[in-house]
Amino acid sequence: MFVSDFNSGLLADTPSPYTGNLTAFLRHAHLLNACFSGETRHALRQLRAGGIKYYQFSDIPVTEAIPPTKTDYVSRIPKQTFESEGVIGAASLELGQLFGYEETSKYVMYDIYPVQGYEESRSFVNSRKELAFHSDGSAHLELSPDYVLLYCIRSDRDALNLVADLDVLLRELPATVVDVLMRPVFKHLVSQSPERYDLKPVLFAEGRELAVKYDAENVTGLNEEAITAQNILNDRIHRVAVEVSNTENSLLIINNKRCLHARTSFTPKFDGADRWIKGAFVTKSDIRNGAILSLSLQKSNDKAMDRSYTVGSLE
Ligand SMILES: [Fe+2]
Repeated sequence: MFVSDFNSGLLADTPSPYTGNLTAFLRHAHLLNACFSGETRHALRQLRAGGIKYYQFSDIPVTEAIPPTKTDYVSRIPKQTFESEGVIGAASLELGQLFGYEETSKYVMYDIYPVQGYEESRSFVNSRKELAFHSDGSAHLELSPDYVLLYCIRSDRDALNLVADLDVLLRELPATVVDVLMRPVFKHLVSQSPERYDLKPVLFAEGRELAVKYDAENVTGLNEEAITAQNILNDRIHRVAVEVSNTENSLLIINNKRCLHARTSFTPKFDGADRWIKGAFVTKSDIRNGAILSLSLQKSNDKAMDRSYTVGSLE
């Protein structure tokens, strides 16, 4: 059971998080959080402690009216109530601070759905093409999310999330490959326009553990050794990844530093009933809850280099 009780329409009363000030929303999220079952709280605390790397909560008692999924790109599909957002906010309180990137949305939550004309793109709004394995925010020079929260409003049975746990992956990678992946010999695309790269490793030490920043579409090895290591990495990711099917009113939380994720291809219908996921990022860093960050090209270091490519948003 996800909650003990969302009594008296508490969930239905969730204020909008789509404002410059999240105070009222977060205050309400605390009330919702207090309704979580012991089982839910335990799983969230395990996620926070790193004991589990991803977890899907299902059968969440959200009952709000859902408008048709849009077919053109907007950063937010208008919705009269904010129940799914309330669940995300309540869960985030156990994990850290909600934040966003202004290149994705000016709000701390954004919508993921297939957009007409972008079916074969590399963007998160693609559909007929697989969304490649990545960690979110890997292009950001300073802050990438510790957790990615994906709330499924509408599902598509063919669209599966794929999750590769870094610990499982590391067991499959030869030590020599891990060693190369820890060197700054990978070009990570950091901006579309002007197109620039940053030289960084794929694996890096964070505390006592290894963490990952990677995007199979937007990272390339600088030399033969790095290219070979990346090819082996891509092969092993596919070998160890597990499928997670998104059911309606489920919330998938992924440790973004300790997992890579992807999404299988699927056929969009563009009839208002397409898959619709509400996404949000959480950091353990001590930033203002609700901060919107920029990819901040000016801070790109002198290892960054220009080249034709695209990243992150629509292409
Ligand atoms: Fe993602």
